[in-house]
Amino acid sequence: MWSVLLACFIQLIVICHGSKEYRLRQPCVFDSSRRPLCWCSGDGYTDCSGQGLNYIPVLPKTTTRLKLRNNNLEILNVEMLKNISNKQLTYLDVSKNRIKNIDSDFIGVFKRLQTFNLNVNPLTNEELETSLKNISISLQKLFLNGLTLSHFDDDLLKPLNGSKITVLGLSNNSFHDFNGGHIFNYLKYLTTLYLSYNHINNFNASRSYSLKQLSLTRNDLTEVPPFCSTAGALFPNLEQLYIDQNCISVLNMNNLNCLDNLILLNISETRIETLKSNAFSKLRNLKALSLQHMESFRYIESYAFNSSSLERINIRDNELHFKGSEMNISLAFSGCTNLKVLDISNNFLGKLNKDEWVLLFTKVSQLTYLDISRGYILYLPKAIPDVLHNLKELRVSLNGIDFIPPGYFNTLYNITDIYFDGNKLTMLNHTQLPTTKLHHLNLAFNPFVCDCNILWLVNYLKLHKEILSYYPSEYRCSDDKMYLADLKIAIRSCLIDEQTSTIIKCSCFSVMLILLIISGVYRYRWRLRYVMYILNYKRRKYINGNMKSSNFSHDVYISCAESDFNFVYSNIVEKLEENNLNVYISERDAVPGSLKITSTLENMDGSRFVMLCLSNSYVQDHWCEYETYMAMERSIYEGHDVLIVVLLENISSANMNKSIHKLVKNNDFILWEANEEAYRLSLRRLVRLIGDENTNIRTPSI
Ligand SMILES: *[C@@H]1O[C@H](CO)[C@@H](O)[C@H](O)[C@H]1NC(C)=O
Ligand SMILES: *[C@@H]1O[C@H](CO)[C@@H](O)[C@H](O)[C@H]1NC(C)=O
Ligand SMILES: *[C@@H]1O[C@H](CO)[C@@H](O)[C@H](O)[C@H]1NC(C)=O
Ligand SMILES: *[C@@H]1O[C@H](CO)[C@@H](O)[C@H](O)[C@H]1NC(C)=O
Ligand SMILES: *[C@@H]1O[C@H](CO)[C@@H](O)[C@H](O)[C@H]1NC(C)=O
Ligand SMILES: *[C@@H]1O[C@H](CO)[C@@H](O)[C@H](O)[C@H]1NC(C)=O
Ligand SMILES: *[C@@H]1O[C@H](CO)[C@@H](O)[C@H](O)[C@H]1NC(C)=O
Ligand SMILES: *[C@@H]1O[C@H](CO)[C@@H](O)[C@H](O)[C@H]1NC(C)=O
Ligand SMILES: *[C@@H]1O[C@H](CO)[C@@H](O)[C@H](O)[C@H]1NC(C)=O
Ligand SMILES: *[C@@H]1O[C@H](CO)[C@@H](O)[C@H](O)[C@H]1NC(C)=O
Repeated sequence: MWSVLLACFIQLIVICHGSKEYRLRQPCVFDSSRRPLCWCSGDGYTDCSGQGLNYIPVLPKTTTRLKLRNNNLEILNVEMLKNISNKQLTYLDVSKNRIKNIDSDFIGVFKRLQTFNLNVNPLTNEELETSLKNISISLQKLFLNGLTLSHFDDDLLKPLNGSKITVLGLSNNSFHDFNGGHIFNYLKYLTTLYLSYNHINNFNASRSYSLKQLSLTRNDLTEVPPFCSTAGALFPNLEQLYIDQNCISVLNMNNLNCLDNLILLNISETRIETLKSNAFSKLRNLKALSLQHMESFRYIESYAFNSSSLERINIRDNELHFKGSEMNISLAFSGCTNLKVLDISNNFLGKLNKDEWVLLFTKVSQLTYLDISRGYILYLPKAIPDVLHNLKELRVSLNGIDFIPPGYFNTLYNITDIYFDGNKLTMLNHTQLPTTKLHHLNLAFNPFVCDCNILWLVNYLKLHKEILSYYPSEYRCSDDKMYLADLKIAIRSCLIDEQTSTIIKCSCFSVMLILLIISGVYRYRWRLRYVMYILNYKRRKYINGNMKSSNFSHDVYISCAESDFNFVYSNIVEKLEENNLNVYISERDAVPGSLKITSTLENMDGSRFVMLCLSNSYVQDHWCEYETYMAMERSIYEGHDVLIVVLLENISSANMNKSIHKLVKNNDFILWEANEEAYRLSLRRLVRLIGDENTNIRTPSI
């Protein structure tokens, strides 16, 4: 018993489950050659559209909603009913056929019909009037758009008296006058009336408390129909009014101001030239205003949008000049303090300066949506992040902006959608995009420059495919039109490039540094050697203790320029040696193979005196310069004069450097003059000088 119930239960589940799959549309009606004519979904919907049918085929019993759109039906009569077994249709769509005649017996059968779509059939007023006579009283939606109705009067809809119709479509007919003096007496439940695409220039209707939406788009109205009179509002509950695409040139708000429940007003594509101050301030519930594409629109007066209820304004495509001379920028949007959505795209915004942007936006600082696309803007107004902190969506497509300042989006905490397509961006990195999570990003049609700087963007785009529009097809490099998405190989080479460039940079730097050091060393080589010497010297002093007590290997160390050697040798060295003095002169005495610098140091330190034979060539000789430094330093350290300066010739002023000047400034030198007398005198002085010291200092060490 229980098992049977369980089995039933399981079966029920399977059936229910199965019926879900049956919801998918599948062919259910075929013609004689098994070609499918209709598709059914399990919920009673049968669609036989576009089959060229001039009859109604045998339909499944389950059919409750029938669509026969776009066929060749010419007449709907009782005969045609034979194949419709279920007369409980709630929905019948016979739009886009060739129906000229509908039998009242045919229509009377469908007692439960709620939606009847007769759009685009060659039905005339008379035919329609008789057809509607027997229509279901449960009808809610009736579509009579695109028929060949020539005029509208109350008689047409009289048959609908007492019906529950809420939606009525009468668009795309040929009405010139709308004589609806009683229409809403018959249609007491009508909420939506479409009268667009007619030629109506005269609108007369009775009062309706039910009507919420009225479309008079694309008619021949030359002024706003008188919705307000001394008797009050014609449609007190109207919420949406479309009078766009009419020839209205003056916006007579007196005909609208009584519509206390109006939420949306569309006056786009009219001939309005000026928006007057406080134009909408009496419409207490107006939230959305559409004013796009008005060719004659020239001027927005101050406080034109003064309305605390306004949330959305669309004034795109107006070729308005947003500049001080054309409108009072700071006051044009004054008063609409609750505005959330502003579309001013396709106007001339490029002339606004930084301050004017600020003036404009401070009036609408609650914006969550801003569209300034196609505004001839060359730079991103800083006023946007400075003022519009609530912004969620920013559209700046099709401008000439080539740069997003880093950190631009940092104060736009709620930004989720950014449209930046069709600008002049060449690169982008993380500093230029928000850190918040985006829902949508459009960067297509920008001339990206595909060098190594584009790497970040390429990776970012790959990771965020799902939020991008036109990716990857319209994200390309400006030069070769290569897709950013295909930059893989280029990226690798870029990475290598980066490495090599780092290597190159490093090696360049090293080479530079080495060169610098070398040149520095060369430039200051004597000073460096001198420093080395000093260090050495101190160490030596430390090791040897008192210098004076050390033995000297020579009496005098003679330093002279190479070109002066012969002269010095024959005139000084030989003479001194004749006087039993022990002379060291590196040109003669240096041990071959030993390092010049060490032997110089050793021998200079090992000599009691150092004699410098100054001449012009001496001064120019760098080696001599080095010897001079070392000698001077030694004399400073030893505290008494170990230097003997011999001047072989007058030093020209060009060669007079600091140290040479120091050596000769006290006249403490021996001038080696050419004449015999002076020469002998000088030599004697020299011998005595060295010899005296010789005896004095040498004695203790013997
Ligand atoms: C009923 O349908 C069949 C084919 O499905 C068709 O041949 C026939 O003409 C239809 N009858 C009417 C009255 O439309
Ligand atoms: C209305 O339709 C029903 C059902 O087809 C029919 O019996 C009745 O005669 C029709 N009435 C008129 C006035 O056409
Ligand atoms: C419309 O129907 C109402 C009752 O539902 C009736 O009182 C009124 O006279 C009808 N009007 C016309 C013009 O038939
Ligand atoms: C009216 O006709 C126009 C042009 O044929 C078409 O684009 C529009 O969709 C139609 N509107 C309706 C409501 O049928
Ligand atoms: C509007 O229609 C009513 C009823 O048909 C009529 O009395 C009135 O004069 C019409 N008004 C205009 C302005 O045509
Ligand atoms: C207002 O009318 C214009 C022009 O017909 C149309 O393009 C626009 O979509 C309409 N806007 C709204 C909000 O209905
Ligand atoms: C703006 O509208 C309010 C409310 O309608 C009104 O009181 C105020 O005077 C208007 N401001 C200006 C400057 O017209
Ligand atoms: C805008 O209007 C205000 C107040 O009337 C005025 O002070 C200001 O000078 C006007 N600005 C321009 C640019 O006309
Ligand atoms: C961001 O959005 C949240 C939720 O919509 C809101 O509460 C918050 O105030 C917004 N922050 C800013 C700075 O507008
Ligand atoms: C990001 O781009 C900006 C603007 O081009 C630049 O100043 C900045 O150095 C870039 N930062 C990085 C990390 O590349």
